Amino acid sequence: MAPTNQAAWLTKAGTPLEVSDAPLPTAGPGELVVKNAAVAINPLDCHMQDHGVFVQQWPSVFGCDVAGEVYEAGEGVQSFKKGDRVIGHAINLVSGRPQDGAYALYTVIPANKAAILPDTISFTDGVVVPFALEAAVCALSLKVPGVAMPGVATPALALPYPSLEDVPASGKTLVIYGGSSAVGSMTTQIATATGIKVISVAGKHNFDFSKRCGATQVFDHKDPLVVEKVIEAVGTSEFIGIFDVVATPETYAHDLAIFAKLGGGHLASVHPPPPDLPANVTGGMIFAVNDIATPVWEEYVTPALKAGKLQCLPPPTVVGKGLEHINEALKKCKAGVSATKLVVEL
Ligand SMILES: NC(=O)c1ccc[n+]([C@@H]2O[C@H](COP(=O)([O-])OP(=O)(O)OC[C@H]3O[C@@H](n4cnc5c(N)ncnc54)[C@H](OP(=O)(O)O)[C@@H]3O)[C@@H](O)[C@H]2O)c1
Repeated sequence: MAPTNQAAWLTKAGTPLEVSDAPLPTAGPGELVVKNAAVAINPLDCHMQDHGVFVQQWPSVFGCDVAGEVYEAGEGVQSFKKGDRVIGHAINLVSGRPQDGAYALYTVIPANKAAILPDTISFTDGVVVPFALEAAVCALSLKVPGVAMPGVATPALALPYPSLEDVPASGKTLVIYGGSSAVGSMTTQIATATGIKVISVAGKHNFDFSKRCGATQVFDHKDPLVVEKVIEAVGTSEFIGIFDVVATPETYAHDLAIFAKLGGGHLASVHPPPPDLPANVTGGMIFAVNDIATPVWEEYVTPALKAGKLQCLPPPTVVGKGLEHINEALKKCKAGVSATKLVVEL
């Protein structure tokens, strides 16, 4: 007998999700249906719940991160079979289809946004990786600016993909403003694995965490001298620019002060960069669903997880077990987290 599915549905912006039956999805060509064991919460989900942003179809099922077992592999899928343990990036954000949202017992994901999860890693740990990983690759590896949203270009830092080998230091430096966040810490790991030196700006209590992700130096975002300290730390190395994962007027002011001293560079951000950037600063906003990440999914994630080169960071905080805990997890996400990703087990 076919299993039954349930999902946490948003029927109207600004209301709690409601858990109820959902059709059991089927895998189209190039897709997987995953029986979810754990799903993660991202700030984007809070905006979707509160304001209905990106919702294309009502009622909506959203959520970006899944970990679980392959229930069905669609036509043309070579690398996965039923029963495989996987992590994957659910892309309701672009498709709008409810079956592509993570907050369900069964979710459809593209096979090229999935990777086998080594047996030594729990679903709860593995589920912190997918969306942040794709965001990191989008921040670092695009070669040509695309469109993040109407009138806003994506960054194009054109950095190489992460390597499974120990790569020599490239002599280039990237500043990650918000290095203890989910996206910032994953980008620190990925940039480090390309030979880039990362200088991180994070809370004082997260210096060790940020270094564990690969940052060589970390500075406190509350330190009144943070700008001067970052400038000094970059020193004479080749300065690529700043990935601003916080993207507030305060952090943008700091970014611009750093660029003014270091001669400009790339300002990659998670939100639209400030208008009227100086001519020597190239601004862009990431949009974290992009096929630029496919080679990383296909060739890097599983062996890197196995080798411990890619760590499941930030560590998960389990909010509860069952779809009914998603509302509580969204509330906790809105209250703010520090160097952790909120996870609901299923
Ligand atoms: N455009 C896209 O495609 C895209 C994709 C993914 C995410 N995003 C956006 O990116 C942002 C980050 O997402 P996330 O999941 O990584 O967030 P998160 O993990 O929830 O962010 C929490 C972290 O932010 C840090 N933080 C807060 N204020 C800071 C400041 N002034 N300076 C330095 N760090 C600060 C905190 O650091 P401490 O605790 O150490 O102080 C904390 O660890 C969100 O706004 C999200 O919506 C955009």
